[in-house]
Amino acid sequence: MKIIVTGAAGFIGSNFTFYMLENHPDAEIIAVDSLTYAGNLATLELIMEHPNFRFIRADITDRDAIRKIFREEEPDTVVNFAAESHVDRSIEDPGIFLRTNIIGTQVLMDASRETGVARFHQVGTDEVYGDLPLDRPDLFFTEDMPLTASSPYSASKASADLLVMAYHRTYGLPVTISRCSNNYGPYQFPEKLIPLMIANALEDKPLPVYGTGENVRDWLYVEDHCRAIDLVLQKGREGEVYNIGGHNERSNLSIVRTILQILGKPESLITYVSDRKGHDLRYAIDPEKISRELGWEPETMFDEGIRKTIEWYLEHRSWWENILSGDYMNYYQKMYGEIHQEL
Ligand code: NAD
Ligand code: TYD
Repeated sequence: MKIIVTGAAGFIGSNFTFYMLENHPDAEIIAVDSLTYAGNLATLELIMEHPNFRFIRADITDRDAIRKIFREEEPDTVVNFAAESHVDRSIEDPGIFLRTNIIGTQVLMDASRETGVARFHQVGTDEVYGDLPLDRPDLFFTEDMPLTASSPYSASKASADLLVMAYHRTYGLPVTISRCSNNYGPYQFPEKLIPLMIANALEDKPLPVYGTGENVRDWLYVEDHCRAIDLVLQKGREGEVYNIGGHNERSNLSIVRTILQILGKPESLITYVSDRKGHDLRYAIDPEKISRELGWEPETMFDEGIRKTIEWYLEHRSWWENILSGDYMNYYQKMYGEIHQEL
């Protein structure tokens, strides 16, 4: 099995690469990543010399570069993680989200058609279903729900999903799509809720909670997501969408409180700041289809996963401290230095 993994220097792409090298000794991984602010080669340091791994720096919107890579490598499988992934950034500057997330997906699918890949897998998100009300705990996202979007990020991911299904119907491209809930775990960039709060708490900095902190997300440990994608590649039906989530809904405030409690830090660090524009209220996945068809179940429960994650950030301080000392600080200043005032 020769797999092109795009976005492999990012959070989930790197975890997926580690997972595949460990669980499929016969798999050859070609990582394709343009190394945006979110891509970090330090993440891949330990596997750089692995005989079944190769890293190629390329932008998925660069048609010539992508075509050349596909012609030379002749992959049988493509897993597309490469994306602009942060909602707040999409609100500040939507253009790059449309380019990477939609056009990039198109370029990859064109190259896949040309070289005849056996499977193109699109890594999607539950955010394409919009949001659910807080007072209807009986409602969940199912694969047949219409797509809708609240942020430029989710609109770009929904557009990409539509394009993937169109390439399947029109050209017969053998595709699958997975739509996962919020991930957490090692190597997540410290602009996302959980690593940001861990890093700030460790440095006794304020923990910026948007709005009232009542918004709910459905959290899944990243390795469970990687195993689900592996199963979809092996046993998933072409042209199908699989939702991935472990029924682990938590409010943002409860996540932040749990982190403070594990680290032994005071709740006085919690700082309520202006709400995100268009802030989705609740995400909740119904994972019945992937469980029934592919036998997938989450293995890491939240209490264990959050402890492992916090431990990882404690043991890998240089990984995230290097990020925080770089360009990221300018963005951090812009987001939290000026526009957010206490409620
Ligand atoms: P991330 O931001 O950590 O990583 C994205 C990676 O893509 C980075 O390495 C970056 O350098 C690379 N990249 C960006 N633009 C590129 C381009 N034009 N060409 C080549 N590489 C490029 O993101 P993540 O959290 O690992 O998310 C990966 C995928 O999973 C995304 O498609 C995202 O929509 C989806 N997803 C994420 C979550 C989550 O909770 N993080 C949940 C569901 C789905
Ligand atoms: P995030 O990690 O950005 O993921 P997503 O928006 O894709 O779900 O945010 C998770 C939740 O945490 C979301 O409701 C926004 C909230 N949040 C904060 O309250 N403060 C923060 O500093 C961040 C980054 C997020």
